[in-house]
Amino acid sequence: MTQAKGAAETSSTMESILDEHRHFPPSKVFSNGAHIKSIEQYEAMHKRSIDEPETFWAEIADQLHWFKKWDQVLDWRLPDAKWFVGGSTNICYNCIDRQIDAGLGNHTAIIWESEPLENGQPEVRKLTYYDLRREVSRFANGLKKLGVQKGDVVTIYMPMIPELAIAMLACARIGAVHSIIFGGFSASAIRDRVEDGKSKIVITADGGWRRGKIVPLKDNVDEALTLTDLVETVVVYERCKNNIVMADGRDHWWHEVISTASEHCPAEEMASEDLLFILYTSGSTGKPKGIMHTTGGYMVYTYLTSRYTFDLHETKPDGNGGAENGDVYWCTADIGWITGHSYIIYGLLPNRVPTLMYEGAPDFPEKDRFWDIIERHQVTKFYTAPTAIRAFMKWGREWIDKHDISSLKVLGTVGEPINPEAWMWYHKVIGNEKCPIVDTWWQTETGGHMLTPLPGATTTTPGSCTRPFFGIDAAVVNSEGEEVSTNEGGILVVRKPWPSMLRGIYGNRERFLETYWSKIEGCYTAGDGARKDENGNFWIMGRIDDVIVVAGHNLGTMEVESALVSHEAVAEAAVVGFPHDIKGTGIAAFVTLVGGIEETDELKAQVRNHVAKELGPISKPDKLRFTPALPKTRSGKIMRRLLRDIAAGREITGDITTLEDKSIVEKLQQNSD
Ligand code: WT7
Repeated sequence: MTQAKGAAETSSTMESILDEHRHFPPSKVFSNGAHIKSIEQYEAMHKRSIDEPETFWAEIADQLHWFKKWDQVLDWRLPDAKWFVGGSTNICYNCIDRQIDAGLGNHTAIIWESEPLENGQPEVRKLTYYDLRREVSRFANGLKKLGVQKGDVVTIYMPMIPELAIAMLACARIGAVHSIIFGGFSASAIRDRVEDGKSKIVITADGGWRRGKIVPLKDNVDEALTLTDLVETVVVYERCKNNIVMADGRDHWWHEVISTASEHCPAEEMASEDLLFILYTSGSTGKPKGIMHTTGGYMVYTYLTSRYTFDLHETKPDGNGGAENGDVYWCTADIGWITGHSYIIYGLLPNRVPTLMYEGAPDFPEKDRFWDIIERHQVTKFYTAPTAIRAFMKWGREWIDKHDISSLKVLGTVGEPINPEAWMWYHKVIGNEKCPIVDTWWQTETGGHMLTPLPGATTTTPGSCTRPFFGIDAAVVNSEGEEVSTNEGGILVVRKPWPSMLRGIYGNRERFLETYWSKIEGCYTAGDGARKDENGNFWIMGRIDDVIVVAGHNLGTMEVESALVSHEAVAEAAVVGFPHDIKGTGIAAFVTLVGGIEETDELKAQVRNHVAKELGPISKPDKLRFTPALPKTRSGKIMRRLLRDIAAGREITGDITTLEDKSIVEKLQQNSD
């Protein structure tokens, strides 16, 4: 009955993170070829990175190109860190020109693939470093002609096409600050971000393809610009040839902007602490926060985390006139999120490994799209999110079995805690039990990976993001800031500065201090709860505001969700608290079933009892509701805030503009129990 889930992957035993004791050491063969080969090597390097951060990071920064070396590696005045003070560099130069200087101009920098077109074939474009430098330089010169200057905020709202990468790199080349808005957002989100960033120029496309339909990006921009009069210039890339209106004087076609632009554009010398980009992230309350990242530290940290977390190796001559094939890397995120900024573009290109960009959806035209791409491009390193992995599980392994995905070597996950069952499925079905899994915990604010396995060194355990990266001094503390004991839950903090930490919230110093620096004296607070086990591995317990206290007991929503998903009929689950007469807070579970399974009251009772059996009666959901899908943001995060309102029988309050499919909420409201 659970065909869709794959027989070998389900087990009747508890697969919740509470009693997870499976360990997966890297294979000898993998470790031998890896940059970081053993846990001893990791520990020695980590110790050094904490004891002598300045020499550690200077050595790494030295691997990249600087116009002028720094005078001081770190100037730390809590909560403000300045890295590589006095140094100047350009991240676009390091992404492109540095490779050309090393004689690699003809190597592939970006592989791009579209959704399949009408003939069933996708369009594929490969850009070498030479191609990229030419296109970036032309567009950078075009921007200059349009009046864009160093320090100006440029809003980018584009589909996942190479021109998105070109636009962001062009900004970085001339020192303009980009503010990228995910192409799935609506007009009001564009208006808010444009106004917050005081941005006078927007770069967009007529449309983008998604499941064979056109997303009307330019129309959305037009609508946003009726709500604000800040924007003077719009540049439009012609992608879908859909009908749009070009406003005279304001709107310019991309191809016209570059038609007379020179192919030569020197990379601007940027001070290490010059602003590189703003990226908006939602908080639990209020309007989105414009997270600020600067140049030097962000560049060095994303370069190193990319290199070590994914164990990246470039194509090298083999000494016999041939070449030893290097990695092909694919991160399935959109560039509109921090994952795309750091781990499609900025951290990847300086590592001289081709980075793959895909424009479309994972299930269009069929549910094997990703495996087809991996097979055809011989992808070696693959980075995706738990929500995607759970969708693949639900669709069933027959989609994977159609393809040879044996090129894969490392599998990454990011965005939310991964339940052990999804981890095991990823390990067995996608990784064929030979690919280390790197569960990377980090945030928009941290710029790069904070807690993560290193694939050649770390023994992994399903559900744990394991150990801190180099330079990261992470701890789990109580509300007084004291470290809690082993396996006790607490607040996750970082006690020392790291190169890619956020430098502020754009235009809002107060909120920056309040959100990240006011909770625990001297520490950055991430807003996540965690525990650390006897092996020094960290376990993220979800956002602090996702913790539910039932009858005086702290329950991580994640634990209950893991227990739910360990029932063979359950595909995905979300758990929230709701006001309960007796317990104070009750547990409400929203559950989607594995394809083909019928929703019955018996099954409801069975699933609730299953949780009680696995976790104890206190964790048994008081309410359980089946739903065809969970309400998610466009980045795939379950909107628990909405579910909390629904569970409490309240009117839905607050912003739902980031919701992927609004009809789910209507269905859930109608269908209350
Ligand atoms: C929040 C940050 C970092 C890029 C994507 C999300 C959660 C992220 C993990 C993980 C458990 C995770 C945390 C964090 N999160 N990665 N591997 N395990 N939780 O970026 O939108 O800034 O969200 O995502 O709760 O605080 P973001």
